[in-house]
Amino acid sequence: MKILGTGSVLPKKIVTNEDLSKFLDTSDEWITTRTGIRQRHVISDEYIEDLGAEAALKALEMSGKSLEDIDLFICSNVVNEYITPSLACVISEKIGLKCSCFDINCACPGFLFALDIAETYYRAGRVKNVLIVCADEPTRMCDWSDRSTCVLFGDGAGAVVLGEGDNILATKTHSQPAVDKLWEKRVIEPTPYITKTETNVPLQMKGRDVFKFAVSASTTEVVDLLDSIGMKKDDVSYYVVHQANMRIIDAIKNFLNEPECKFPTNIADHGNSSSASCAILLDECNRKGLFKEGDILVFSAFGAGLLSAAAILRW
Ligand code: COA
Repeated sequence: MKILGTGSVLPKKIVTNEDLSKFLDTSDEWITTRTGIRQRHVISDEYIEDLGAEAALKALEMSGKSLEDIDLFICSNVVNEYITPSLACVISEKIGLKCSCFDINCACPGFLFALDIAETYYRAGRVKNVLIVCADEPTRMCDWSDRSTCVLFGDGAGAVVLGEGDNILATKTHSQPAVDKLWEKRVIEPTPYITKTETNVPLQMKGRDVFKFAVSASTTEVVDLLDSIGMKKDDVSYYVVHQANMRIIDAIKNFLNEPECKFPTNIADHGNSSSASCAILLDECNRKGLFKEGDILVFSAFGAGLLSAAAILRW
């Protein structure tokens, strides 16, 4: 497939590190040096489906495709106000889309899992045009009195429209199950028959373990995927890496021995917006005109599961 259009939307509320230090035992200095994050956009009176719908319409407008052209809509999301129907259905109704649609819950690498699914449908001859929306509000999952998690996240939505082409050169998804590294539990109403123990638990994270997994999975997958299609690091124009922590991005860059100019980032302004992260970064770079035709983009993302994924695209 080929990316025909991109779009993204952020919540209007900006929360700076200074704002957080007013109610948390933290500081701008700690957050900036340990994560590279200076501020994040946080959901307040918006609904994540509205952000997702707006991002979808922006991507559609850029793509030149109409709603009727879209054969499949994949929505990446971890949590939203509906348990059912899927967020994909909610967004479809908002924008008037009538094709087959479904959600995937693959946490932060969700954009790359969606890209992999879209390409697989395309290669099977079942679709021509696919809409992907990554809409996530991880700030709704955190315990806002836990300084080790809530400072890391921001919310937002990113979208792409994919059409006919041969620009997706390779995709790879990976799972290394380890639930206890990053998880949250939500409990719905008990039934008269529930005898087991169930409790709501906000987002829990073993930060150092996730950090190590992220660097190791990303570097291994990028090297292997490039190798699988006979490409070298010199062929790569840009690495679009999940914006989880600037130190993770720096470690990946150092391991790959690649220059900083190949790693566009927006983490300082947005924090970690889960699966929306890569899609938003892609849209921002695209709208700034960073990518030139023929550029090779390498994507890499990692997160809860533990899941990770990589993709190589010719722009
Ligand atoms: N402000 C001030 N101090 C903080 C803090 C905050 N926001 N968060 C944690 N600390 C403290 C800890 O309590 C600890 O204090 P102690 O030494 O007195 O016990 C100290 O800082 C060091 O904590 P540690 O967890 O070892 O720090 P770290 O350098 O590993 O950084 C993360 C923590 C979370 C920033 C880092 O592990 C990380 O980014 N991991 C990956 C997380 C991630 O990206 N998750 C999403 C993946 S999609």
